[in-house]
Amino acid sequence: MLPEVLAALDLQPGNRIIDGTFGAGGYSRAIVAHDGVSLLALDRDPNVQPHVDALRANFDQRFGFALTPFSQMEDAAKAHGWAGAEGIVLDIGISSMQIDQAERGFSFMRDGPLDMRMGSHGPSAADAVNLLSAEELSAIFYNFGEERAARRAAAAIIEARAEAPLTTTGALAALMAKTLGAGWQKIHPATRVFQALRIYVNDELGELARALAAAERLLVPGGRLVIVAFHSLEDRIVKQFLRTRAEAPSQGSRHRPIGQEDARAADFSSSFSLVGRRAQKPGEAEIKANPRARSARLRAAVRTDAPVLPSEPLIFRGVPQLKQLEAQI
Ligand SMILES: C[S@@+](CC[C@H](N)C(=O)[O-])C[C@H]1O[C@@H](n2cnc3c(N)ncnc32)[C@H](O)[C@@H]1O
Repeated sequence: MLPEVLAALDLQPGNRIIDGTFGAGGYSRAIVAHDGVSLLALDRDPNVQPHVDALRANFDQRFGFALTPFSQMEDAAKAHGWAGAEGIVLDIGISSMQIDQAERGFSFMRDGPLDMRMGSHGPSAADAVNLLSAEELSAIFYNFGEERAARRAAAAIIEARAEAPLTTTGALAALMAKTLGAGWQKIHPATRVFQALRIYVNDELGELARALAAAERLLVPGGRLVIVAFHSLEDRIVKQFLRTRAEAPSQGSRHRPIGQEDARAADFSSSFSLVGRRAQKPGEAEIKANPRARSARLRAAVRTDAPVLPSEPLIFRGVPQLKQLEAQI
């Protein structure tokens, strides 16, 4: 959705832009190619380095990179000497590069180690399936995979691992096909369980929620936030965050309590205004060229000069903190 992302960023000379999901550098390259725009790119995956080097060779002066999760964008910006930004873009999810490498363990279509970590530390998917309880696994599959047969999937894993630990994508995919597969047509029976494990080991939804709150603090008034999400769990978080920010209730001030006629206009405290009411979808041509883009949804908003609104941490009942699992490995 590059043309739509560039339009939503509305780049101007002098802008400081953060691309929180550098990947193969497609968005970053197009952004930094704009005259006078400075770019700070982030990614948690060290494998993006060759693409970073390629961009650095051409745009050394205006391009910076930090190997860090995008929830840490404020620290990265500060270390780069920026106190604010005029634009922040996140193209969340995994890259084709990550899916296509069997040894990263993201795909049930390719046999490889059951890893799924975008970064290089923390618990892997194999740690999760071999160490967590049936209840915990079931909560992960239900919350992050929207898998209706979450309990059945978890029970099958517990039974299988009593024989031998599950260590490969092939073994887990085959187990899910056997357990959940009767009569499947549209999607592989392991799809939701794989998605759930990937979201869990990378704390993807927590990362997103913290990044949205960080972007609210970091963007200057008039700064633009542009998010491309790939599944409904992510898009829901973005939509809800922006909706609460754009439709913040008016707050009465000491001088003009709520209830007076002009209170709403005078004290309206939305920290973002939405660019368009609905999410944008990719066009037919993009979907034809890249079927994986089918489910992409772009949402954009402009920061106002209102103060940051308080944000709540995301809590999913029954899902253990990653730190708890980390302590077990
Ligand atoms: C869909 S790709 C981005 C593709 C990129 N827009 C391009 O044009 O090449 C997503 C990238 O974001 C990275 N990523 C995902 N979650 C992240 C996070 N929480 N922090 C930093 N990087 C993250 C992944 O490692 C991956 O490289």
